[in-house]
Amino acid sequence: MDKLIIQGGIKLQGEIRISGAKNAALPILAATLLADGVMTISNMPHLHDITTTMELLGRMGCELTVGEKMVIQVDSRVIREFFAPYDLVRTMRASILVLGPLLTRFGRADVSLPGGCAIGSRPVNLHLEGLAAMGANLQVEGGYIRAVANRLKGCDLVMDLVTVTGTENLMMAATMAKGVTVIRNAAREPEVVDLANCLIKMGAKIEGAGTDTIRIEGVDGLTGTEYEILPDRIETGTYLVAAAMTRGHIKLKNTQPALLEAVLAKLHDSGAELTTTESTIEIKMNKERLRAVSIHTSPYPGFPTDMQAQFTALNCIAEGTGTITESVFENRFMHVQELQRMGAQIKIEGNTAITSGVSKLKSAPLMATDLRASASLVLAGLVAEGATEVNRIYHIDRGYETIEEKLSNLGAQIRRVPG
Ligand code: UD1
Repeated sequence: MDKLIIQGGIKLQGEIRISGAKNAALPILAATLLADGVMTISNMPHLHDITTTMELLGRMGCELTVGEKMVIQVDSRVIREFFAPYDLVRTMRASILVLGPLLTRFGRADVSLPGGCAIGSRPVNLHLEGLAAMGANLQVEGGYIRAVANRLKGCDLVMDLVTVTGTENLMMAATMAKGVTVIRNAAREPEVVDLANCLIKMGAKIEGAGTDTIRIEGVDGLTGTEYEILPDRIETGTYLVAAAMTRGHIKLKNTQPALLEAVLAKLHDSGAELTTTESTIEIKMNKERLRAVSIHTSPYPGFPTDMQAQFTALNCIAEGTGTITESVFENRFMHVQELQRMGAQIKIEGNTAITSGVSKLKSAPLMATDLRASASLVLAGLVAEGATEVNRIYHIDRGYETIEEKLSNLGAQIRRVPG
């Protein structure tokens, strides 16, 4: 298994381009199953999760071509199977996103129950309850969801919890259902809006995406279209934290600062200087030491849980005490033990991590446990004394496009060692 070796202590400097958003690309790839025509998707990030989804579509019989700069074309008219096998789904929980499209367009789907990051139990009950309310017949057998439906029927859905992929799955299912579906307490994440915009371009009738009430009027069919994925706000935030922690000065291009206001506010509180345009963010950290910040994760537009681990790493070397409360997922503090091995002072109380900043972290061999936890270990490595070794980096490759190349372009000493 590959590992990353990072020599700490270098201030990041320079410019990099942000990739397309993984969490928008995954549902949009699933949405290609709805199109009666070829879909052409650009700004697709080159990530392991994207390859997995493409393999999943390919195994179903879809024709896929990958052009220059990861422009992907999908033709789902030639689909043969409506099956998402365990060996693919277990590596990526977002595979559940094929369930809604398959069911609404073809009336059947066999999808393995998902695995994915080990951050809490992460059930899919709300996806299933919503589809059942729309008239699907769902059985769970041998680890598989076996679903059949005649044409789904629009209905009023009140979500018990705000769920991102749940909202996306049900929104896709509703595009071709008979009548009107209303999703209340819907997720407002920018990636939900990006998916809705893509579906609208395909001919869907959707209103209210980006608010907590989405109204979808079912249509008889959707067509192929061209669509460009929005920039990745979590990748953006991760590089901003890297710059702040190393007391560097970097500029990120092809991003959208408007998508990460909560994150920018916390970086500002920590003492970093930020300058934004519509599509760029420049960050400078001139002060001797960052200030610890307090964070409470919540659904968008609140502070994203996917940036929690990175800010935990930041707090480890900041001045003062910081509290980080994780309220979206249980068991999302797996990075804490690893950071403690580098000398970080962190105490966990329930779902809160309390940090007392130290002036230096020390390198250690580390183990990546999930996607964002792994990113936090790389960040800690960038400021630690000595050479830090991060093992099991396949987690990072699921969500960060060529992380070692991008960090090297910013001056970091980081290399991948094949294991
Ligand atoms: C998505 C993101 C992930 C992010 C998360 C929260 C993708 C591909 N992944 O994950 O990066 O960390 O949103 O912003 O977009 N829940 C249930 N029952 C359900 C569904 C969810 O109880 O049927 C719970 C989950 O256990 C969790 C909470 O709802 O506690 C939110 O999860 P959800 O928004 O569904 O996360 P994902 O969509 O899996």
